Amino acid sequence: MGVFMSVLTIASSKGGPGKTTVCQALAASLAGELRIVALDADPTQALSRWATNAYEGPPVEVLAEPDETRLAHLIASKADTADLVLVDTAGFGNRAATVAMTSADAVLVPSLSGEADVTEAEKTIRLVEGLARAARREIPVRVLLNRVRRTTLARHAAAELKAAGLPRLAATLSDLVAYGEMTYSGRLSASGQSAAEVAALIAELRELGWIPVFALQQHVIP
Ligand SMILES: Nc1ncnc2c1ncn2[C@@H]1O[C@H](COP(=O)(O)OP(=O)(O)O)[C@@H](O)[C@H]1O
Ligand SMILES: [Mg+2]
Repeated sequence: MGVFMSVLTIASSKGGPGKTTVCQALAASLAGELRIVALDADPTQALSRWATNAYEGPPVEVLAEPDETRLAHLIASKADTADLVLVDTAGFGNRAATVAMTSADAVLVPSLSGEADVTEAEKTIRLVEGLARAARREIPVRVLLNRVRRTTLARHAAAELKAAGLPRLAATLSDLVAYGEMTYSGRLSASGQSAAEVAALIAELRELGWIPVFALQQHVIP
């Protein structure tokens, strides 16, 4: 593994809170400046299909690898050559997701704002903490509140995460049509609220050291 934190795994215990959406937004927004490899560990292959059928931006290497053994080796080898390896996972009960969390320099846990969603986010955080202890190293983890609406529900979710001692990012993503459209159009609009939110998310991840600020010099972006 290089000097930078280079493997960012997106995980949650169940489908639906926005893992693939976050991967798409990060990959599409960072591809012009960093060498991004996105690994699709979800057997449903939503990320890979998006990359093949819809994505239109600067090159991103997207590889589907749902097999946990091959994934473990692939993450390690891509971490040596990419600026950032994003790993999109299925919910757990899926061994590749556990491998992706164990191999991560950091784990991002998207969560919706419902009471059950916060409980699911907590499960994911506890699993990452356990994996980190087992590996006797730190694996930093943060919740990203997704599909936030200006309601008391989102504030309640934030308060609940705080009460449970669950770390979360200050950045949140709103419930916006633009994120859903990205799935079909292959790009995130360059202006407007979604662009501003993704920029704020990236800035915060950079502050944490989860995303490199510069591309490594020796990399030639294909
Ligand atoms: N912030 C958002 N605003 C609007 N729609 C969203 C947002 N995040 C996710 N979605 C939609 O929610 C659905 C599930 O998101 P997805 O990223 O596939 O979740 P996961 O990968 O965790 O299963 C998709 O249809 C996606 O377009
Ligand atoms: Mg997904």
